[in-house]
Amino acid sequence: METSTSYPVHELIRQRWSPRAFSAQPVAPEALEQVLEAASWAFSAMNEQPWRYIYAHKADTEAFERLVSCLLPANQAWAKHAPVLMLSLVKTHYDNGQPNRTAMHDVGAANANLFLEATALGLHGHVLGGFDIARTREVFNLPEGLEPVAFIALGYVGTPDQLDEPFRTRETAQRKRKALAEFAFRNQFPD
Ligand SMILES: Cc1cc2nc3c(=O)[nH]c(=O)nc-3n(C[C@H](O)[C@H](O)[C@H](O)COP(=O)(O)O)c2cc1C
Repeated sequence: METSTSYPVHELIRQRWSPRAFSAQPVAPEALEQVLEAASWAFSAMNEQPWRYIYAHKADTEAFERLVSCLLPANQAWAKHAPVLMLSLVKTHYDNGQPNRTAMHDVGAANANLFLEATALGLHGHVLGGFDIARTREVFNLPEGLEPVAFIALGYVGTPDQLDEPFRTRETAQRKRKALAEFAFRNQFPD
């Protein structure tokens, strides 16, 4: 996928995108552990590291199916073909019971690290916020204070012809971003 940027941003950032078509090639367990370690090197408030992950390779048949079963049907349709599925979770409070106001921020940072390390290994990921929260809590017996954030499909990119519409067309659609002037403001927020 060609991504054109206005500035010469790092190639790892340009190469990352979210496919829906994944090849059947499995992900080596060590590669997955490497991307998880990359996640762990993200910054976090008080170095609390509030991210948690539940993951399964396709070979972990039952656990993989459990993850698939939590996704909304439109996401299941393509994500079930990914060789790895993960669920990122957030620990919402510090051990002393105080709420960690920026915990979600830190999970996002860990996920971003995870994705960039994956890109460096030739892997691609796709975040999925479309899942059944109540079912996920139940299926994984999540304790209070641990909230599901987003699922992640991870693997090697496949080809658009593996997908049904509307996903096939979307797979090759041009990627777009807001212009800098729309989200970054020197000195003060505009009136
Ligand atoms: C928190 C979050 C939730 C998302 N949920 C879904 C989803 O449920 N289904 C889906 O197909 N894509 C989902 N996406 C993928 C976004 O649509 C995608 O990242 C965005 O369009 C930008 O494309 P890019 O990742 O290729 O740059 C989600 C992304 C994030 C970060």
